[in-house]
Amino acid sequence: MKNRILITTALAVTLTLPAMADNQENIMEARKIIKQFATQLKTELKKGMKEGGPVNAIDVCHDKAPGIADSVSASSGWTVARTSLKPRATSNSPLPWERKVMEEFEAKKAAGADPKTLDYSEVVEEDGKKLFRYMKAIPTAKVCLNCHGGDNVKPEVVMRLKSLYPSDRARGFKEGDIRGAFVLKKTL
Ligand code: HEC
Repeated sequence: MKNRILITTALAVTLTLPAMADNQENIMEARKIIKQFATQLKTELKKGMKEGGPVNAIDVCHDKAPGIADSVSASSGWTVARTSLKPRATSNSPLPWERKVMEEFEAKKAAGADPKTLDYSEVVEEDGKKLFRYMKAIPTAKVCLNCHGGDNVKPEVVMRLKSLYPSDRARGFKEGDIRGAFVLKKTL
């Protein structure tokens, strides 16, 4: 009996080890793509702020963020997006599995984890195909508070946000809060 358990364990280890190595490669690739995506978003944000302050930068985020996600997706072969438990754009509303992962991120943060370190990966089957899914928490920095903060947000910014996003929930954040997450997917 004991022998049988040992053999089963050994088999399980040999079967999962290559899968884990593959996963590690996908995780590294996902992190690299997120860096590119985040850098492009920040560059556009900074440019927009410099050229016309936060009101102008809202329009930049509104017009450019979805396009940047699409172009990073097209060039990498992954699906790249952002989501949040309190989304601004309804198009960024989380799917049930994304919501669950972000709730886990919140629980880990409440238990003392640094939001910068929070990520998640899994392999699932969808329509008979294997899919690798990865999420990484996005911490709120000081600059984000111009448009995602509470009472500090300028009245003209509030007005512009209201007109573009009538069901905006992405306000009232503090520095260090989890603003949302990157979501990356790839068919294996
Ligand atoms: C100039 C205003 C502005 C600033 C500053 C800003 N954002 Fe946003 N943010 C927006 C707008 C507008 C959207 C909606 C974009 C869209 O329509 O897809 C958005 C959407 C997002 C989303 C996607 C989920 C959602 O709520 O729709 C995340 C995540 C996000 N912002 C994080 C950040 C972080 C992190 C920072 C700081 C590094 C930041 N934002 C700074 C205006 C801003």
